[in-house]
Amino acid sequence: MNNEKTFHVMTFGCQMNVHDSEWLARALSVRGWTEVSEEDARVYVVNTCSVREKPEQKVYSLLGRLKSYMDAHPERFVVVGGCVAQQIGRDFLARYPYVRFVFGTDQIGRAPETIDRLAEEEGKRMALLDFEDGYPAQDVVIPEAGPVSHIAGQAFVNIMKGCDNFCAYCIVPYVRGRQRSRSADDVVNECRALVERGVREITLLGQNVNSFGLDKQGDGTSFAELLERVATIDGLSRLRFTTSHPKDIAPEVIAAFGRFETLCPSLHLPMQAGSDSVLRAMGRGYDMQRYMGLVEALRAVRPDIALTTDLIVGFPGETDEDFRQTLQAVERVGFESSFSFMYSDRPGTRAEKMAFKIDRQVKGERLMELQALQERLTADALAACVGREAEVLVESHSKVQASDDVVSWRGRDRHGRVVNFPWPSEGGDLTGKLVRVGIETAKKHSLWGKAVGNPW
Ligand code: SAH
Ligand code: SF4
Ligand code: F3S
Repeated sequence: MNNEKTFHVMTFGCQMNVHDSEWLARALSVRGWTEVSEEDARVYVVNTCSVREKPEQKVYSLLGRLKSYMDAHPERFVVVGGCVAQQIGRDFLARYPYVRFVFGTDQIGRAPETIDRLAEEEGKRMALLDFEDGYPAQDVVIPEAGPVSHIAGQAFVNIMKGCDNFCAYCIVPYVRGRQRSRSADDVVNECRALVERGVREITLLGQNVNSFGLDKQGDGTSFAELLERVATIDGLSRLRFTTSHPKDIAPEVIAAFGRFETLCPSLHLPMQAGSDSVLRAMGRGYDMQRYMGLVEALRAVRPDIALTTDLIVGFPGETDEDFRQTLQAVERVGFESSFSFMYSDRPGTRAEKMAFKIDRQVKGERLMELQALQERLTADALAACVGREAEVLVESHSKVQASDDVVSWRGRDRHGRVVNFPWPSEGGDLTGKLVRVGIETAKKHSLWGKAVGNPW
């Protein structure tokens, strides 16, 4: 019998989920649990994403695959959290006997103690699915001495929960609840504590960071003010934030890119579509004139800013002409990279009920055309880096290794581009270090070069 406190976390979805999973792993470690491989775990935590049909389906196939562990080891069990957990709720308990705990997106703070309890009380099952009125209570767990991987140079910090925008296609407001801002002091204190533990790069996280502080939970601090407080923390090298909604980005936030050295010259600004009529149907609250105006303003304060975006093809009613406008807009902005998706019906959303759904094949063709354009733009942007120097924050080993004597390391430059470089293997672990790299070649999605001087 394996009654040891061992767990394995599997994460789908966005950076919020990645951040939530990291938090949960830390919080369980503090309670005496050990993170192990899938084969050896007693508890499987599945943190789920519901944003499109595909990630939702992946959750069900994963649960199917995990069943064999429970068949062989009845003391093992599964915990389902995140956005599909919120959406499907108790049905998980009904459909999967080996799922013993389902927790919704506001209840993650109570997950560690609940998992502890379930490990003790055989057969007990639980569902915690309520939304909280305020920013949900959750301990800040920054281990004094923990596995280094939890603090490897960079960290996410949540600044808000939920979303109030209800874009026509999107399930997020239903599964993450209303927007609630965290107190600015709590955010700043967490950032300071992380920097004191050696974190060099912080990413502030929220579904729509630009509307931070505008909900009734806020303490009156605007996002621009919060940005200033974090950007000026002593010892911080790099600050990023995501996601920005184009309708809410304030002039002061744009100006911040010219004011703070620490604020990295990169911004993810989801455009979704390049046609005003599609944007209107999506309920995005901006048109292309506004979007292009933002791009211009950003480039005026930070000419080298690297812009990235999200795009949806085949939104209900999208004509060929609408789609052409998306292609044109993507080309005009010259995004460094983008995430593009085929529109997917989500239960309960306005778009689900719309007429003029686009044929799957048409969506597929549009996606391929858009992605081919993006590949070209990405290649152009990367090629332009050759011959320059970049400051790289090392994240991990590269996927490809050259030889035993030399280790290839992978990190990101200030613009967010992936940079690989070799380093003698006796040079130690570079994770979390900053290195200057002279860029020599541009590959399809990354850069390669040589370190200039010593890492620090
Ligand atoms: N809060 C972020 C987006 C979170 S969801 C924002 O507003 O930018 C991440 C991305 O998934 C969205 O930007 C959108 O491009 C895509 N997406 C969301 N719902 C979708 C759906 N129903 N079908 C296809 N793509 C979708
Ligand atoms: Fe979804 Fe729109 Fe909210 Fe983003 S802003 S999470 S796309 S509803
Ligand atoms: Fe997915 Fe939930 Fe994030 S639906 S994209 S994990 S907010």
